[in-house]
Amino acid sequence: MKAVRTIAELREEIRSLKAAKDVGTVGLVPTMGYLHEGHASLIRAAKEKTGVVVVSIFVNPIQFGPGEDFETYPRDEQRDLAAAENAGADLVFLPTVDTMYPQPTKTKIAVSEVTSGLCGASRPGHFDGVTTVVGKLFNIVQPDYAFFGMKDAQQVAVIQQMVYDLNFNVTIVPCPIVREEDGLALSSRNVYLSPEERTQALVLSRSLREAKEAVESGRIRTAGEAKRFLTTRISESPLAVIDYVEVAAFPALAPLADGEPVIEHNESVLMALAVKFGRTRLIDNCLLHSK
Ligand code: PAJ
Repeated sequence: MKAVRTIAELREEIRSLKAAKDVGTVGLVPTMGYLHEGHASLIRAAKEKTGVVVVSIFVNPIQFGPGEDFETYPRDEQRDLAAAENAGADLVFLPTVDTMYPQPTKTKIAVSEVTSGLCGASRPGHFDGVTTVVGKLFNIVQPDYAFFGMKDAQQVAVIQQMVYDLNFNVTIVPCPIVREEDGLALSSRNVYLSPEERTQALVLSRSLREAKEAVESGRIRTAGEAKRFLTTRISESPLAVIDYVEVAAFPALAPLADGEPVIEHNESVLMALAVKFGRTRLIDNCLLHSK
């Protein structure tokens, strides 16, 4: 595995690896580093599907809002390189901010509608930052496949919309959420949690799992019932401060009206939430598949 820092080097390495490998397809796994098993699962999925696996590690300043954790976002390059190599990466791209943004970008990619609710509502400008950097990475790497985790379900929907609208020549591969044994969805931000917050944060995966079971057994029928169930359950944890609890069609992400059924829906339905524990904002979700 090679680590490269400049766009020219990366393009050259991809070109020579493509020529050398039997399978010449390129898979991209974009990350912000501090890699965990969730990231590793994407790298392994890329390894299975493509001949040349590129992992990018870049804490993208333009997707953080004022007062968010850009400065303190956890970073550990040496550990990340070992984790990427273990999971099967061929190339790791580690650009500096100056390489990605030699001057403040005058061009941004902005996806509408899919970005208006959920995290888009609580983090204004966040998805413009995500789509702009992912669009740049797609142009730099020119991958055949790009792998994204359903942990960030809205991000998957937004990027799929961008690819569709702007004719990026790449197939997006959504990958399942990887969880700790006790249910907590893996996240680079979990390191911020105090032991007490870490324990209480289990309410997120637990309440989503209970809601899904209640939907499947017919005890919850409508979006309103699902939202009330989740809100009540999460509020039982004293440290939990709810940012949002939402039930929306996936991937369009239009919120369901309170009376709309969540099962027997024509589209898949996403139950999604963002909750703060102390200064740490966690997200989790559960997708109910259409009939
Ligand atoms: P980051 O938070 O580092 O996540 C990189 C990828 O790993 C995303 O596709 C995310 O959904 C996936 N991921 C994170 N936790 C996961 C888990 N527990 N299970 C499965 N997949 C998981 O998402 C970003 O970075 C950035 O917004 C990025 C796309 C790199 C653009 O800057």
